[in-house]
Amino acid sequence: MSETVSTKPISFACPKCKRPLRSGDNALYCSECNRTYLIVDGIPDFLSEDFQAGISPVFGGISSTTTIKRMARQMDFVAPIYEFFVSTLVKLSGIHGDSARFIDRIASFHSKTLKGITGPVLDVACGPATYGRRIASPSRNVYGFDISMGMLRQGMTYIGRDNISGVHLARARVEELPFENAVFDGAICSGSLHLFPDTVLALREIARTLKAGAPLSVQTFVAGKTVINRSLQKQSWLHTFALGKLQQDLTEAGFEEFKPTLDGIVLTFSAHKAMPRT
Ligand SMILES: C[S@@+](CC[C@H](N)C(=O)[O-])C[C@H]1O[C@@H](n2cnc3c(N)ncnc32)[C@H](O)[C@@H]1O
Repeated sequence: MSETVSTKPISFACPKCKRPLRSGDNALYCSECNRTYLIVDGIPDFLSEDFQAGISPVFGGISSTTTIKRMARQMDFVAPIYEFFVSTLVKLSGIHGDSARFIDRIASFHSKTLKGITGPVLDVACGPATYGRRIASPSRNVYGFDISMGMLRQGMTYIGRDNISGVHLARARVEELPFENAVFDGAICSGSLHLFPDTVLALREIARTLKAGAPLSVQTFVAGKTVINRSLQKQSWLHTFALGKLQQDLTEAGFEEFKPTLDGIVLTFSAHKAMPRT
């Protein structure tokens, strides 16, 4: 039986006012709030204004643009070795199971959660499109975004090298997504939920872009006892989750059907955007 192909691309929206953007030569324009977003090496950049402006009110005093900029710079630096680095870190952190195949295991978790989904999928804080590249298909376009241009460029290199189609990348941050409401049929988020300063704010913005009932597939970490895990927990830029609090955060952000699975300190879970109450 042939696969149904539905590749209608999603248009980007202004991350500030959420109105559709008009495209021109190497830029996207917002006629509503008069903003211009440049497309740099094929990657729409929705962050340059914020990065130039300094403190951004969207973080509500929780985190400054400086913190995000610093993290983006660090991620730019590790981008070329990131996928190798993930496997090594997973091995050192004492996680159970076959850590060398960590990326394959998480990719297969995402595929299972998204089973039957043929519409567009959001890849939250995609890095070098680690998972977006692995779950995209002709019928399932993936829209990845990240704050690190280095990660996104590395993603473009892999996509070109492996001749992958259906992956679209943009520089944006999870707190202000460049998409209209309810455009995605699913979302994945790996290795990053613990990096967002305000979990509910991030989840709420992801939920805004999802259709009712759409699945969210996440890999993150819980607190553990290994030396690396303990030292990571002392870092101010990272937090680990307690399951009860996470479930509360998800509910507050508009998700339901929380299904967690633990493997050592690795937490994978699925949830669904809540259906409207009748
Ligand atoms: C550990 S990497 C995970 C990358 C990829 N999802 C994976 O699992 O391989 C975390 C990513 O989160 C991105 N990130 C951190 N804070 C972010 C934010 N507020 N908005 C968007 N991306 C963010 C970083 O730039 C980095 O690429």
